Amino acid sequence: MNNCPIGIFDSGVGGLSVFSQLFQLLPNEDYIYFGDTLNLPYGNKTKEQLIEITESIFDFFKSKNVKAVVMACNTTSATAYATLKSYYNFKIYPVVQSVSKCIADENYKKIGVFATNATINAHAYKNEIQKYNPNCIVYETACPEWVNIVENELQDDEKSIKNIKLHVDEMLSKKVEKIVLGCTHYPYLTDVLSQFAPPNLFINPAYSFVRYIINDLKNSELLNTKRTFEPKFYVSSNPKQFISASKLFYNVDNAMEISLSSKVKN
Ligand code: DGL
Repeated sequence: MNNCPIGIFDSGVGGLSVFSQLFQLLPNEDYIYFGDTLNLPYGNKTKEQLIEITESIFDFFKSKNVKAVVMACNTTSATAYATLKSYYNFKIYPVVQSVSKCIADENYKKIGVFATNATINAHAYKNEIQKYNPNCIVYETACPEWVNIVENELQDDEKSIKNIKLHVDEMLSKKVEKIVLGCTHYPYLTDVLSQFAPPNLFINPAYSFVRYIINDLKNSELLNTKRTFEPKFYVSSNPKQFISASKLFYNVDNAMEISLSSKVKN
């Protein structure tokens, strides 16, 4: 089992913000990354659609005989994880549930969360953080435009910058101590976000998520014992755009297009 691959997925390039950290700290693993670019954006889909999509991705990873799946995607962690978690015999690491205790342990009084519509509507971060720190007030804001901004590399457009500033200003008016970037695409916007607020205001959950995964793999004696592998990248459409947008977090130079399920409509 130790030398089986680790699957990691998201709707597109966003999950590379988690993968790059994981790869840096744990290079001796056999990684399979799947970016579901055909079904992007996930944030505007229903819970049922997200369960269907996640199930097909888990089945794909099962066919690759993985030992663990990293749900780098906040949206599917928030909506599909609870339903699917007991159907597979590999380890499943959902980002929201894995990092919320670590955020709650900081004892913040007021924090903000930026995430997709589906994550915000599920109150995923709010519920998980308040489970450990009921006194923490959590303000939630959906930023549905940001995924497309990142995937299409539009972060320097005037319209994008205006939109980002609007959300940051609104959240700052609530006097929050931190803002969780609750979508893996959002850390790609750090340069723009930092124009309107100090960079250390933002929490990128990838850091504590990766520490959590590594500790758990260690404790479960599941770390790879063999050698370094080349990570493999799969997408469900448009590999060229994926490769181009990937550059900020990981230099993907080859992505294979595969079809897992048909396109699920928004
Ligand atoms: N990046 C994903 C997340 O962390 C999904 C974004 C989307 O496709 O809407 O939620």
